[in-house]
Amino acid sequence: TDRYAVFGNPIGHSRSPRIHTAFAEQTGEAISYSAIEAPVTDFAVAWRAFAEAGGRGANVTVPFKQAAFALAQVLSPRAQLAGAVNTLSLGNDGLLHGDTTDGVGLVRDLQAHAAPLAGARVLLLGAGGASRGVIEPLLEAGIASLTVANRTVSRAEELASRFAARGEVSGCGFEDVAGPFDLVINATSASLVGDLPPLPGEIFAAQGLAYDMMYAAEPTVFLRWAAEQGARSVDGLGMLIEQAAESFWLWRQVRPDTAPLRELLRREL
Ligand code: ATR
Repeated sequence: TDRYAVFGNPIGHSRSPRIHTAFAEQTGEAISYSAIEAPVTDFAVAWRAFAEAGGRGANVTVPFKQAAFALAQVLSPRAQLAGAVNTLSLGNDGLLHGDTTDGVGLVRDLQAHAAPLAGARVLLLGAGGASRGVIEPLLEAGIASLTVANRTVSRAEELASRFAARGEVSGCGFEDVAGPFDLVINATSASLVGDLPPLPGEIFAAQGLAYDMMYAAEPTVFLRWAAEQGARSVDGLGMLIEQAAESFWLWRQVRPDTAPLRELLRREL
C-alpha cells in the first residue's frame, strides 16, 4: 500500500481523504490517504517525516501551497505559472515533483456544467493565489477576455499584467467592473465570512453563469446574489473533486470517474 496525505492547517474538515479513498476503491489502486495538520511554520519538516515513513505524494492546501512550491525540486510549467503547488509526488528519479491541479480542476468542472468557455467574456473576482492558478487554464480553454477585479486594485492590475502576453487580460476594482460577462468566477475568500464583493448590478450576459470556488450546504451569498440577477449558479464542490482526480492521475496514471463522488459529497454536505 502506497501512502499519500493532504497537508494543511487546519485540516479537520478536509474532504480529500474521503475523495481519494473512494477513488482508490473505485480503481482498485492500493493506496492509503490521510490528513496531516502540519505546524504553520514547519511544512518542510512535516513533509520529510512523512516521506521517511514511506509517503509517496501529497496534496497541499491552505496555508502551505507556497511552501510546497519552494520545497519541490522539479516544478511543472503550470505550477511555475501559478506560483503554487497543490500536488507533490516522489518521482522515479528520486526527486520531489511539484504540480498544481486547481486550474484544470476548475476548467473540468466548468465543462461538466456546460459553462460558457470558448469565446466567453469572463470576470474573475479576487487576485490572490486562488485566482493566479486558474488564469492560464481559462485562457487555454479559449475564453475571449478575462477581467480580474479585486478589492485591492493594484493586486488585480499586477496579476493581469503578469498574463498580458498570453491573452486579453485586464485588471480593475469592483466598482469599475463593466459587463456583460458570460461567466463570473468568485475566487475571493469573501464567501467564507459571508461577504459579497460590491459589484454593480446587471453584469451577467443572457445565459450567464456564476461560479463560486467555495461551497457549503447552502448557496453562498455570492451565488444567491447571482441567482437574483438571473444567472445560473454553481458552487466549487465539483472543482474540489476534479482537482483531486487530476492529482490521483498524476500519482497513479489512472483516471477515476468523478460522477459518483459528485453525488456522494453533495448528499454529505
Ligand atoms: P488566496 O491566495 O488563498 O487566494 P489571498 O492571497 O489572501 O488568499 O487572497 C484572498 C482574496 O480574497 C484576495 O483577492 C482578497 O482581496 P485583497 O487582495 O483586497 O485582500 C479577497 N478578499 C478577502 N476577503 C474579502 C472580502 N471580504 N471582500 C472582498 N474580497 C475579499
